[in-house]
Amino acid sequence: MSYKILEGKKGIIFGALDENSIAWKTAESVTEAGGSYVLTNAPVALRMGNINILAENTGSQVIAADATNTEDLEKLIVKSQEILGSKLDFVLHSIGMSLNVRKGRHYTDLDYGWTTKGWDISALSFHKLMQCLYQKDAMNKWGSIVALTYVAAQRTFPNYNDMADNKAYLESIARSFGYFFGKDKKVRVNTISQSPTLTTAGKGVAGLDGFLKYAEKMSPLGNATAKECADYTVSLFSDLTRKVTLQNLFHDGGFSGVGVSQEIIDSINPSD
Ligand SMILES: NC(=O)c1ccc[n+]([C@@H]2O[C@H](COP(=O)([O-])OP(=O)(O)OC[C@H]3O[C@@H](n4cnc5c(N)ncnc54)[C@H](O)[C@@H]3O)[C@@H](O)[C@H]2O)c1
Repeated sequence: MSYKILEGKKGIIFGALDENSIAWKTAESVTEAGGSYVLTNAPVALRMGNINILAENTGSQVIAADATNTEDLEKLIVKSQEILGSKLDFVLHSIGMSLNVRKGRHYTDLDYGWTTKGWDISALSFHKLMQCLYQKDAMNKWGSIVALTYVAAQRTFPNYNDMADNKAYLESIARSFGYFFGKDKKVRVNTISQSPTLTTAGKGVAGLDGFLKYAEKMSPLGNATAKECADYTVSLFSDLTRKVTLQNLFHDGGFSGVGVSQEIIDSINPSD
């Protein structure tokens, strides 16, 4: 990307685990666009992943924070402003995890303890993050907050399990908190509904390979890659999208607007 549309802008990026992560690609795209940021992830992810390589390559600092822990979030937000030398212009919430998916529990047989934990990590953490940013008045006017979601919030994808419910809740938080952030602070809040993508979180969903091929055949423009999602996020962090808020924005090559594609029709044997 050759446009420096984030020159001088500062923020926090949650969720870069490894080079496949959407947040990793977003960090790289934000750097290309001239922005700077603090990287953060859960303490366990910092031990398991490669975030320090990303930090070195982009000249960023890393602060550990469990996104379900409000004390961690408060410390992160205070420290990040100290490091960056100002309030924040952008925040990316790129966090998701379902214990039921990870441990292979079927949607008709959920472990509700795991459901609650997954909901806290994948959905409620977005409210916790925004409440902390709001109460600490940590966002600059015309700042932008983005979270990542998936179309299973609107339509049924059986293997997506309780993550579908978490995404529906996440998208609702974006609208509900976005109202107050807009009114009181002139900050926008949106979710990006991304194509299926081969990442650690993505691979946790059963049958992802087949599903990726299906989505590719359904989408007029083909599946959107993590890098393309990153570049779209940069546009939402920039001043070019100042009046876009409370939206769930589909970044999926057109998948969500298609009933059926000719490729899918052709792949079904009429005698079946
Ligand atoms: N991969 C896909 O197919 C796809 C499609 C649409 C939306 N998304 C969403 O994109 C976002 C990023 O996922 P990804 O696909 O890049 O996978 P990923 O596994 O690379 O990223 C998920 C991140 O969540 C972090 N995380 C988990 N628990 C946490 C906690 N308690 N505190 C802080 N961070 C925590 C992980 O450490 C990891 O970095 C998620 O919200 C995911 O649901 C993914």
